Amino acid sequence: MAAAKVPPELARRAAELRAALEHHNHLYHVLDAPEIPDAEFDRLMQALRALEAECPALVDATSPTQRVGAAPVKAFGEVRHRLPMLSLDNAFSTEEVTAFDRRVRERLGEEGEVTYNCEPKMDGLAISVSYVEGVLQQAATRGDGTTGEDVTHNVRTIPSAPLRLRGQGWPALLEVRGEVFMPVAGFEDFNLRAAAAGEKTFVNPRNAAAGSLRQLDPRITASRPLQVVFYAVGVVEGVDPASPLPARHHEMMDRLADWGLPVSAQRSVVEGVEGLIGYYEAMGRKRPDLAFQIDGVVYKVDEFALQERLGFVSRAPRWAVAHKFPAEEALTIVRDVEWQVGRTGAITPVARLEPVFVGGVTVSNATLHNIDELRRKDVRVGDTVVMRRAGDVIPEVARVVLERRPEDTAEVLLPTACPVCASPVARDEGEAIARCTGGLYCAAQRKEALKHFASRRAMDIQGLGTEIVEQLVDTGLVRTPADLYRLAAEQIQGLERMGEKSATKLHQSIADSRSTTLPRFLFALGIRNVGEATALQLAEHFRALPALRDATEAQVQEVPDIGPVIARQVHEFFRSSHNMEVVDALLEGGIHWPALPPREAKASLPLAGKTFVLTGTLPTMTREEAGEMIRSLGGKVSGSVSKKTDYVVAGADAGSKLTKAEELGVKVIGEEELKAVCVSVTPP
Ligand code: IVH
Repeated sequence: MAAAKVPPELARRAAELRAALEHHNHLYHVLDAPEIPDAEFDRLMQALRALEAECPALVDATSPTQRVGAAPVKAFGEVRHRLPMLSLDNAFSTEEVTAFDRRVRERLGEEGEVTYNCEPKMDGLAISVSYVEGVLQQAATRGDGTTGEDVTHNVRTIPSAPLRLRGQGWPALLEVRGEVFMPVAGFEDFNLRAAAAGEKTFVNPRNAAAGSLRQLDPRITASRPLQVVFYAVGVVEGVDPASPLPARHHEMMDRLADWGLPVSAQRSVVEGVEGLIGYYEAMGRKRPDLAFQIDGVVYKVDEFALQERLGFVSRAPRWAVAHKFPAEEALTIVRDVEWQVGRTGAITPVARLEPVFVGGVTVSNATLHNIDELRRKDVRVGDTVVMRRAGDVIPEVARVVLERRPEDTAEVLLPTACPVCASPVARDEGEAIARCTGGLYCAAQRKEALKHFASRRAMDIQGLGTEIVEQLVDTGLVRTPADLYRLAAEQIQGLERMGEKSATKLHQSIADSRSTTLPRFLFALGIRNVGEATALQLAEHFRALPALRDATEAQVQEVPDIGPVIARQVHEFFRSSHNMEVVDALLEGGIHWPALPPREAKASLPLAGKTFVLTGTLPTMTREEAGEMIRSLGGKVSGSVSKKTDYVVAGADAGSKLTKAEELGVKVIGEEELKAVCVSVTPP
């Protein structure tokens, strides 16, 4: 700062503002822990701008006001890397990682485990940034590894790249290397805006980062949500003897962090192959939740002296390896968009794809959920799309690559008639879901209704799978669930790929399913929005089918947890003559269940006096549903386990409550047993 020419009071005030801005910038962009609201930051920045306008001699390149200082450049200058920017060898399996570790130990003559530093492999583009006397001097892309492009004007606009290093003890020249990337949220936001404005979108965050950094006009780069993280040190000169550089990679990263440089928050130091694989797996689990994309993890021998002994082969170090994850995104082509009809008539668009390997599986279909979602993504037949499969998430069409859209594509429209039965398609006001109005006239709905009827938690007819249901409906043998009970074993045997033995077995399991419970039967009917928990509530409340069948809408609404919408749907179901014919036919076909005793007063309700504690994730019910079921039977649900607790109902990932129950010897049961308890207290 040319402090001599400026009034000392102004210089002092400017220095204070800069220090404050640098501090808050570091908190916000490097540590991700802001302390002041954005508006306050803007206010400080305005104050500094005003001072600098008053006294231009205060301005220099390190001022926070000068991030987007430079005018557009005509072309990128060349930067020769004094130390080449290398790449990494890849490993794709535990075996390859084991082989890497073995090579390292053999070369070093090491008997014991080697200490490694593990980091995410950022999916962006490599960058080299030089600080001279602590001031950002130059930034360059990797280029061919020997010569890169000068992108100093653009890297200066990245808020997490400090214009001046913090603290002290940095060498006179410090070259740091890292990755420039665009976080996923910023990328999606950018693409949405670009698409809305009819501008170029990017296929993935990495291309977006590269495209944003390679801009001649730094104002464009400044408008893109870029970040940088550093993972290596390049050329170093003039080390301060009072603060020698660390001897290990992980300590060096800590040092860079002290100097205000962003480093990975997911770094970890581990021993041997077991440690490496443990890290790989842990990062794999975290991957879907990270704010940025990674394509693997990088293992580095931690000790610099050992790195030096190991050296390099051609363009990659022997002391590091990149352990890659299966790609989460891949490009493919949409061959067709079809409409599937579900049990309740909901019609769902499904993209038929050129099969593509992504996230470890081959994908050839992807649901597009509903017409709104289809409109939003504007997927068309012939489009090239990015398929995405993150972790165990169902593969989805992430976005369309508009640049690759063929010329003669058409918007996919909601059909006006059901593709299966040609009944009109209707879509209620404000509803995302369109439905075939054919009801059980529609073969698709009939098939789905039958599959649901036979499913394990409904009538539990073993052996009545999709393929057989399809045949039964297509041959006309079965129109309604009641027809199942009229099937002869010979008719079943007449189906394709059906042997005598499996036909007899299926015939028997249909017969066995006649003996059921009222809740299961109600669930099996497939009344809109009546899941297992609601079916149970209805049975508990009405005790017998005729009472429910004759109930008014208002009476149905008296059932705990049933609101006006479900009450109307339940009521309407029993007003339909077709539905009633099916129900009667089912009863005539021999379906029966133990009668429930009449409803009693609260004190004499079956679970009266029993206290339950719910913990963990139950397989099918939410804790609220389970609690409601217990309460409706007169039981109490408590939040903590004590000697007075009668049952702890534990699901997956149950924690301290389960431990406590075990300590106190309280009976622990699962969801199935809970249902059994609830049913056994209501014997015939
Ligand atoms: S170390 C000499 N660490 O991966 C070793 N590289 O395939 C230099 N990358 O060009 C690289 N995250 O752009 C290293 N944590 C990380 C990394 C990383 C991403 C990129 C880097 C490099 C490429 C090599």
